[in-house]
Amino acid sequence: MERFRVVGGGRLQGVVRVTGAKNSVLKLMAAALLAEGETVLADVPDILDTRIMAELLRRLGCRVDHDAAAATVRIDVPGELGSEADYDLVRRMRASICVLGPLLARCGKVSVARPGGDNIGSRPLDMHIAGLQKLGADVESEHGNIVATAPSGLTGATIWLDFPSVGATENILMAAVLARGTTVIDNAAREPEIVDLCLMLEQMGARISGAGTSTLEVEGVERLSPTHHVSVPDRIVAGTWAYAAAMTRGDVTVRNGRAEHLEIALDKLATAGADVSRVEVDGEPGFRVVMDGRPRAVDVVTLPFPGFATDLLPMVLALNSVAEGAAIVTENVFEARFMFVDELARLGADVRTDGHHCLVRGRERLSGAPVRAHDIRAGAGLVIAGLVADGTTTVGDAYHVDRGYPGFAEQLRSLGVEVTRETDPDADLLDG
Ligand code: UD1
Repeated sequence: MERFRVVGGGRLQGVVRVTGAKNSVLKLMAAALLAEGETVLADVPDILDTRIMAELLRRLGCRVDHDAAAATVRIDVPGELGSEADYDLVRRMRASICVLGPLLARCGKVSVARPGGDNIGSRPLDMHIAGLQKLGADVESEHGNIVATAPSGLTGATIWLDFPSVGATENILMAAVLARGTTVIDNAAREPEIVDLCLMLEQMGARISGAGTSTLEVEGVERLSPTHHVSVPDRIVAGTWAYAAAMTRGDVTVRNGRAEHLEIALDKLATAGADVSRVEVDGEPGFRVVMDGRPRAVDVVTLPFPGFATDLLPMVLALNSVAEGAAIVTENVFEARFMFVDELARLGADVRTDGHHCLVRGRERLSGAPVRAHDIRAGAGLVIAGLVADGTTTVGDAYHVDRGYPGFAEQLRSLGVEVTRETDPDADLLDG
């Protein structure tokens, strides 16, 4: 068990590159299951979650070769696929649930363990299940697994989602591409990762219209072919760098960061007093964030894309905790995301929650302390909060951050701050 050790007081300065998005690549890997043969994905981040997904696909019978140096994953999908995803992998990575749609479409049956809740809240699957049922699947819950069958194939239908769920949109989409006839997904999620998945599916031969809008229309085809696809850049990692730059009164250029995927988040930084500009570095688009002086507190409301991303909630809370003035941050997507607030308070932040609102009164500096990461984004948020805390901060359960941020400590060091990793003595105590 490792923890981050963060020495406060540094300023981020330099250029950092973001790779493909975790939340896209995991779904693209699942989408590869839809076609027999070799699919190649490029700009894949070297993170724990892609390794878990690779293992899941291997257990389904695929040959998966992850070349971390080249940032590629080759997935060789056999004609006959396994159709079961076990709890030991699903509980380690909730996103494993995204094999539900493609396996049902390919095999006519699937059994995937139910992931259960996690540290950001209860995460039901009712919309995934209702969507697949509308396509004609019979779905049962058996011994902790979701078991779906459609022996004579799926049939297109009109599906209206109660909420633009990212995961439900993806599962229904990946099932619908091989269904008979037309499927319409209304109130669909519009995240850039959904657009990326649509692009890859289209390259494989799927017929989809409306990607990036609330209505996706899918004309089912009989079979798809393998493809080569470059993942969309990670907007959440890019946003993390942007907020870290502003908080530390730094100057960071985020190469391969797409400002158009972070419009509200970057606009909030401009309101906080940062200078945000679009730049090109070595032929790749990117953006630069420069902050002189103390940021001003900004009110934020999280919403599905194109709203302010819930995954950047820890970053804006950390920013506000050292900003001038007070702000209200409202979380609308995950009920337990404010668990992070108690850890931030350990660093001396003046934060108070009421339901899904959080009032933050800015302080000049935070105060270094031992804290724990509860999830990927909270972990990254605590590390960057440690940069604006006096003395040393340690962030335990570093593995959460490894799930989504490739080489986080190394990248921070390359931007001039002192962040290292060490064995967590407290973890040993607990284990021992
Ligand atoms: C994905 C992202 C996650 C991000 C989230 C919202 C991945 C691997 N994860 O998660 O980083 O924070 O989108 O942008 O891509 N819900 C239901 N019933 C359902 C499905 C969802 O009630 O059947 C609820 C959830 O509990 C949550 C909300 O809808 O409150 C949004 O969830 P969803 O968009 O599905 O998020 P994920 O796909 O799980």
